[in-house]
Amino acid sequence: MRPTELLYLDCDTGIDDAMALAYLLASPGVTLAGVGTVSGNVDSAQAARNTLDLLELAGRTDIPVAVGAAVPLAGAYRGAVPHIHGTNGLGGAELARTERETADETAAEMIVRLARAHPGRLRLLATGPLTNLATALRLEPGLPALVADVTVMGGAARVSGNVTPVAEANIHGDPEAAAAVLAAPWDLTLVPLDVTLTHTLEEDHRQGLLDSERPVARALGEMLDLYYGFYTDTYGRRCCAAHDPLAAAVAVGGITPALAPTVHVTVDATDGPGRGQTICDLRGVHRGFPAQPGARCRVVLSAEGDVAGHLMERISAL
Ligand code: BDR
Ligand code: CA
Repeated sequence: MRPTELLYLDCDTGIDDAMALAYLLASPGVTLAGVGTVSGNVDSAQAARNTLDLLELAGRTDIPVAVGAAVPLAGAYRGAVPHIHGTNGLGGAELARTERETADETAAEMIVRLARAHPGRLRLLATGPLTNLATALRLEPGLPALVADVTVMGGAARVSGNVTPVAEANIHGDPEAAAAVLAAPWDLTLVPLDVTLTHTLEEDHRQGLLDSERPVARALGEMLDLYYGFYTDTYGRRCCAAHDPLAAAVAVGGITPALAPTVHVTVDATDGPGRGQTICDLRGVHRGFPAQPGARCRVVLSAEGDVAGHLMERISAL
């Protein structure tokens, strides 16, 4: 990412969202113009509280935080997931409470304001359900022409979902919003479970964070204890998927995707068993993915190299 480029983060902070935030703060040349929160791992108000406290711990009280949507576009918020992210969303880690307040605007308003203020420059990264991005599209239908690009952690292209057999949590959290965001005419990179479940953070990585002299790194090491416990069922060992920090790294160019075809993607927003599925047209796989006219969604199916090592190195430097 060039130094002059700006990033907006939309998240449901969340242990791995906290990792993504730390990664971005530690990334040279990345200017985080604002953070908005959405209900997902925790409700949007708690996610904002967690984000403010993390930013305080990182000494970055200059970055505004806006509370976003409390409920999805349709239906009710299904509630927090304390068995995955802890009752406070941060694995029970108790951060010092900052006095700082949230911004005097919603997350969707913040997206629109920043996009209008920096036409063609703002990059959007979403690591939670897409309610705020969809709401911003309603507020400003010209938004796709105003932002540079969008990166979303979400979906499952060729692998199973993690909430239902076909649906990933961020898409399942608001399928109507995801359908609108994936249908909008902007360049979007989807970072699905295909790649985020392939790259794991391990016990030695967590120990490295715990041994750090840096407060954010140590706090993340504490948080990961609960997260690793949850993922023991998935992997058969204490570790975790690199969902949100991996998406952050893709967004700012720290990690280069290996196989990442640009294809048509639609989101199932019906009420059937496919609700929340990201239907990616990968039929070109045997012909090297020939161009699909009108397709604007790059689906990251794999990334090469020591992804976890890169994430840890950067996060530890914060
Ligand atoms: C996604 O869901 C959330 O629990 C994580 O923070 C991540 O964004 C993974 O499916
Ligand atoms: Ca998240």
